Amino acid sequence: QGGTITIVRGRLLWFHHEPLGADDEASFTLIEDGGLVCRNGCIAWVGDWSDLPADHRDADYADHRPHLVLPGFIDPHIHFPQGQVVASYAGSLLEWLNTYTFIEEQRYGDPRFAATMAKRFCDMLLAHGTTTCVAFGSVHKGSATALLAEAATRNMRLVTGKVMMDRNAPEALTDTAQSGYDDTKALIADWHGEARLEVAISPRFALTSTDAQMEAAGALAREHPECLIQTHLSENHGEIEAVEALFPDAADYTDVYERFGLLTDKSLMGHCIHLSAREIGRMAETGAVAVFCPTSNLFLGSGLFDLDRIKGGGVRHAIATDIGGGTSWSLLKTLDEGYKVLNLQGHRYHPMRAFWQATLGNAEAIGMADRIGTLDAGTEADFIVLDARATEAMALRMETVETLAEELFVLQTLGDDRAVTAAYVAGRITHATA
Ligand code: GUN
Ligand code: ZN
Repeated sequence: QGGTITIVRGRLLWFHHEPLGADDEASFTLIEDGGLVCRNGCIAWVGDWSDLPADHRDADYADHRPHLVLPGFIDPHIHFPQGQVVASYAGSLLEWLNTYTFIEEQRYGDPRFAATMAKRFCDMLLAHGTTTCVAFGSVHKGSATALLAEAATRNMRLVTGKVMMDRNAPEALTDTAQSGYDDTKALIADWHGEARLEVAISPRFALTSTDAQMEAAGALAREHPECLIQTHLSENHGEIEAVEALFPDAADYTDVYERFGLLTDKSLMGHCIHLSAREIGRMAETGAVAVFCPTSNLFLGSGLFDLDRIKGGGVRHAIATDIGGGTSWSLLKTLDEGYKVLNLQGHRYHPMRAFWQATLGNAEAIGMADRIGTLDAGTEADFIVLDARATEAMALRMETVETLAEELFVLQTLGDDRAVTAAYVAGRITHATA
């Protein structure tokens, strides 16, 4: 039959749609003693271990029981050049950007530094169980190139783009409307669709782009409808006021993006905390995605994302770390903080929904649910192994746990990278702890 074969045994869990309630058993599959056969980077067979096809019965396999095997986490909003910005002492978004972030990102103009950091970035993702991300680069084309090249060597499915920003930032961290367009265009030509890679059109946010650059980003979106668009929207009150002053003709912040053709079903809008009813309506009608970044929103004091209001308004949604405004690389910790943000607003965030979101839900948000975020046969073999007893505190709590939902809740509330005992990318183990 040919091809590289990997066989894995464990407690398999994956989702089919967003759980409608705690007891929505049709929304997921759990196989207590399951097997996965990976061939050429994809899942060739999945099922009960006792049904493993005869030609594989004598083969070596990795036995991950009693741990859960899930699709790898997907992080749809993270900043490649901010691994060393995390935990910078700041009051709020604009202070944090100006004091630390716009200084640090200048270092990524050096391609050798960017290449070194790209390795470390991918290592961090995998150690935390994240097998795919949509990442902002720095303004430098070379930063995106470095990350794409690194992901290619690892056969990771990854999306990134160079950030477009031509005002309100230090000279060394700005491009121009033309160069931002040209560099993004070249990245798309060279990388989009290569290996498992995609290029995203990445205007940083309206505050750091002139009208001319917003036009250029809109032109790219029209010329490349296959590309995701990533940006920030309605994160902080000071930011919103500044944007409204810069674009006085726009109805509101969301309308700034819409006017330039940047509000589409390919748009990943980071934060979306302070949206009006009109803005929520436009998000829903265009199919744009609101990306919830709880650790960032709490750390920077940006506000409380209202998931029920967003969802109730028919807006697509995702959850993400937003490293380095966010404080954890872990989607588990992100779900934990997301739970607290919802709880503060009198809402609930059931663990089944949370784990759907971090896997299939995020895959749907970035248009890749046919390939990742699932363990269905025929999809790409990106999955992780989670140990709900990884720490003493977790093991202690697990002694009284009886249901899958309880186990997932322990994982998200007490877990972090220590709970990720292995990560597989395209059927190959890339990260394992004892
Ligand atoms: N808005 C514009 N740039 C950024 C960024 O790097 N992080 C966050 N959290 N918000 C932003
Ligand atoms: Zn961000």
